[in-house]
Formats: sequence, structure tokens, C-alpha cells
Amino acid sequence: MQIRKALFRCSSERITQVPNDDLRDIAFIGRSNVGKSSLINMLTGRPGLAKVSGTPGKTRLINHFRIDDAWYLVDLPGYGYARTSKSLRQDFAKIITDYVLRCEKMHYLFVLVDIRLEPQKIDLRFIEMLGENGVPFGIIFTKADKLSATQARRSVERYKAILSEQWEELPPMLVSSSERGTGREDILDHIAKCLEV
Ligand code: GTP
Ligand code: MG
Repeated sequence: MQIRKALFRCSSERITQVPNDDLRDIAFIGRSNVGKSSLINMLTGRPGLAKVSGTPGKTRLINHFRIDDAWYLVDLPGYGYARTSKSLRQDFAKIITDYVLRCEKMHYLFVLVDIRLEPQKIDLRFIEMLGENGVPFGIIFTKADKLSATQARRSVERYKAILSEQWEELPPMLVSSSERGTGREDILDHIAKCLEV
């Protein structure tokens, strides 16, 4: 699949404000700073579309980007950003869980994890919550440019091993680097398949 057209549509504070149409959402979630916004820019080939920052907590709203007038890419706030106040953190949690569990537009979710890190509790907890609620999702490893190919493969294997303790069937897993454009075709093809369903 190729993306020809990508437009910012709106930012929503709550799910009652998301676009009122029947186009489906493919959404990106993960810890703050993992590279959600960068990945959206890489996939669409538009560097400034989603706001990227070295400071965690940049994306605070549900951002809809309309793709080829056919579906939406959705940039979500990061979870687990320790430096916001507890109440703010709970707001993030609510906006995220409301969207993921209750928004009818939400068609498929990608959970992003930093390929350099050992499986993090907060990600594993989030993934478990998705499983319990039957949310369709896949995992995208980000920042693969920071590791050698061998290290990256090991990191993915380590993740698979941990998830296998809980899951009979593993979710789809894709490797990406927004810096280098790695994984672009695979991710877009995966999205195309999700949209066929
Ligand atoms: P929040 O909106 O704060 O939740 O963060 P985010 O997940 O949207 O992350 P963002 O895309 O803003 O990127 C965070 C930082 O990681 C930025 O400094 C990016 O330049 C960097 N980054 C993102 N993707 C990559 C990547 O593939 N490779 C490298 N080397 N850096 C990356
Ligand atoms: Mg962001």
C-alpha cells in the first residue's frame, strides 16, 4: 500500500469529539517518547505532520490524520510518563482507555516498544489489558537504527519469549526505524490487510 494523501483532521480531548464519520482508525500507542509521532510522519512521508519532540509527553490529545480519504492514522498520548503529576497521568490513562476500549472508530492498534529496552512492565500490562478486552493489536519495535541487526533480532526474540509465557498465539510483530524508513512497507501492508477485514 502507498499513502498518497495525508491531512491533519483534528485533535480530541475525549472520544465524543473524534470525527463523526465511518472511516476507521489505525492507532498508535506506547510509552511517551517511544516514537509514535515520528512513525506516523515516516509512514506518511510527511516529516512535520505529527509533532515530534525529545521531551516526553508531547502528544496530549487524540490526533486524527485522514489518509487517502479512506481511513485515519491516530496519534495517541504516551502512557507512563513519570514526570507529569499523578492526576495528569490518570487523565492520560482515561483518555487512552476510553479510546482503546470504547471508541467505535478504533479498528486496530499498534503498540510501540523501544527495541533497545527489555520488556517493560507497563507495556506488558497494557498488552495484557488489550488481550483481556479482545482489542485487535500488533507490536511495532521502534528505533531499530540504534541496534545492529543481530541485536535487534535478539531483542524481538526476548519479547516473544516473555509474551509466550502468557499468550498461546503471539501478536504480529514488526520492526521499524523512523530515522531510516525501515519497516515502512511491512507496516503499510499490514495496515492494508487490517482494513480489508
Ligand atoms: P510523545 O508524544 O511524547 O508520547 O512521544 P512519541 O512517542 O510521539 O515520540 P516522538 O515521535 O515525539 O519521538 C521521541 C524522540 O525519539 C524524538 O527525539 C525522535 O527524534 C526520536 N525518535 C523517534 N523515532 C526514532 C527512530 O526510529 N530512531 C531514532 N534514532 N530516534 C527516533
Ligand atoms: Mg507524540
